[in-house]
Order: sequence, then structure tokens, then C-alpha cells
Amino acid sequence: MIISTADRLGQVKEYYFSQKLAEVRKMQAEGKDVLNLAIGSPDLPPAAAVLNRASEELYKPVNHGYQSYAGLPELKESISQWLQKVFEVKLDATSEILPLIGSKEGITHISLTFLNPGDQVLVPELCYPAYGAVAEMCGAEVIRFPLLEDNGWQPDWQYLQELDYSRIKLLWLNYPHMPTGQPADFDTLSRFVQLAKEKQVLLCHDNPYSMILPSGKPISIFSVPGAKEVALELNSMSKSFNMAGWRIGWVAGSKDYIQAILKIKSNVDSGMFKPMMLAAVEALKLGDEWFDSINKVYAQRRVKAQAIMDKLGCTYSADQQGMFVWAHIPDDVHSAEDLVERLLHENHVFITPGFIFGDKGKKYVRISLCSGVEVYEEALKRL
Ligand SMILES: Cc1ncc(COP(=O)(O)O)c(C=O)c1O
Repeated sequence: MIISTADRLGQVKEYYFSQKLAEVRKMQAEGKDVLNLAIGSPDLPPAAAVLNRASEELYKPVNHGYQSYAGLPELKESISQWLQKVFEVKLDATSEILPLIGSKEGITHISLTFLNPGDQVLVPELCYPAYGAVAEMCGAEVIRFPLLEDNGWQPDWQYLQELDYSRIKLLWLNYPHMPTGQPADFDTLSRFVQLAKEKQVLLCHDNPYSMILPSGKPISIFSVPGAKEVALELNSMSKSFNMAGWRIGWVAGSKDYIQAILKIKSNVDSGMFKPMMLAAVEALKLGDEWFDSINKVYAQRRVKAQAIMDKLGCTYSADQQGMFVWAHIPDDVHSAEDLVERLLHENHVFITPGFIFGDKGKKYVRISLCSGVEVYEEALKRL
């Protein structure tokens, strides 16, 4: 390559799954039947009403043009009503909700909106890799705040209290936590809101797993009174409605924050396809029976995924939330990466090594609940 890349690429690595899934596809092309139990991409279809609405809207000639940058008003209204129904929080549909092309995209928009080079960003150790990667692309420095393994992966409050906040601009939070599956807790979220107010930091809560195998009533950062002053929340249709490939999510927060994010977003993309947004409106009308039906399937698969962990000698907490089982590898196994490589090449079973979520993940592996029961049974047979 004779043209040099931008300095921001210096620290940024290609996303683990972008590389690794190419290797898995190559193995499959060579005739190896690799079972993919790694990625959290729901295999179940969206509800019939969602598909019907999408196909009806697809044939209307008026639905194919550019859409409003701020999102379809009907979709914003549906999101607002859904937030009220599920979390009992009030957000104004017009000014406090911005539909996004998935919440992953929102991480970039938020970072570009609020970060200057030299700012610092707090992310949990462990976490979804995009928070830190995008912060680095913006020239910010990433500080990983510890989650305590021995305390149900709750934050280390002493560490957080003693930090120097003079350069810290943004704090990423994600409960129910991926990858550990630890649930949201009102007191924890309240303490973060209090901390963000005291230290003048923007608190970004990423909440895509609240509806999957919930261990109690789902909770939003806006369940905490006064959170809107300092907090934004991302959510997504990907996991809750089996629409990961559709790319629909949203960011919610007070009007000024949303307006600022729209300045960036409207220069980056031109909105989503209208039939998809109208289908999302149908999805957001789904009631408890929808969540009960998908969670029944995930609960059955969880038992199988736990059986695989048992077979590998891995240990885990039984009541994890979200669509994964996260487990500690046996003491006599050198690293999770070695275990994952061995399973991939010897047994043709692909699971996720925990190191991709941070250093503390080196002794952990993750199995996703996004394959049929027969796939877990086949994996068990092979081990
Ligand atoms: C914690 C977390 N946040 C965000 C995302 C991105 O989801 P979306 O499909 O809405 O971009 C994922 C996807 O796996 C995730 O695990």
C-alpha cells in the first residue's frame, strides 16, 4: 500500500469476529462442519406481524425515498411508548429519541459528538469492545474501571471514587452486562448517575439485553430520577426482536444531547429504509407473550450450553441474563484462547474467548444461545 493510513488506525485492531469468522468460513468452504456457538446473532425470525408489515410496505412506491434524518415520527412515538410500557420511563418522542442504524453505530455517533483528542473515557473491564475502540479512533484515552469478579462483576467503587476526573468526559456502562450476564441493579445505576453528576461526566448506558432471560423487572438508566441531566441510553431491536441484521436501534436522552448527536449523524448517514422502520413499529407493539416465547427457547438452550461448559470443566453462575453463558476455564487450562483454538481445530466447535472483552477475560469463555438445541447436542457429542 503506497498511501499511508490515518494515525487513528495506529491502535485500532480489526474486530475479532471480523477476522475469526473469515477463518471459520474458510474452514467451512474446505468441507469442515464448524458449529458456530460464538456470536450473539439471534437465529430465530422476527414475529410474523413484523414480516407482514415489512412486505406490505415494500410494494408501496412512495416508501423508497430518503427518510427524515431524525427518524420516522411513527417509529419515535412507538419507541417512546415501549419505553413507558417496559421501563415506566417517559421520553418525549419528538425531541428525546433518535433512531439509529443499530446501537453499535450509536457508539460512534456519541463518541464523535462528545470527545476531543486527549479526553479520557471510562469503560468497564470487561466490556463490548466497540466502546474503547471508537474512543481511541477519536483520539481519546481509554481507562478501564475494574468490575469485581468476586462481587458478581459489580464495579469497584473505591477505584471509581479515587480517580482523577479532570480529563474524563464519558463513562460507558452496560447492564445487563455483556459478557458476564450480570443483571442491572437499581442501586448500582443510581450510584453511577450520582457519580456522573458529581464529576460532570456523560454517562452512556448500553441496554440491549434487558428483555432476554430477565432476572427481574427490566430497568433503564432513566428509571433513576434525574438521570436525564447526565445520561444517554442506547437500545436495540437486534436482540429483543430478532432483528439484528435489520440494523435498527435508538439513543434516548434529553433534547440538547440528542440535537448534538443529530449534527454528527445527519452528516454520516441518511436514515433507514421506511418499510423497515414501519415493521419495527409492529415489533414494538408485541406484548409479554412475545418475550415469553423467545425466552422459553433461550432457557432450553441455556441448559445445553451449560452442559457443554460442564463437559469442558468450566464453572459459571447459573442465572445469567442475556443470550450467552459466560464461564471460567479450568485451572489446568493455560488460556481461554488456547482452549478456543483447540475446540475449533480439533472438534470444529467455535466459541468465544473472553480476552476480546478485556484482560480479565483471559480465563473465561462465552457460548452464545443463538443456535438450535440440536447444534449444542452435536457439539456435546464431539467433545
Ligand atoms: C453490549 C452490546 N452493545 C451493543 C451491541 C450492538 O448491537 P446492535 O445490533 O444494536 O448494533 C452488542 C451486540 O452484540 C452488544 O453486545
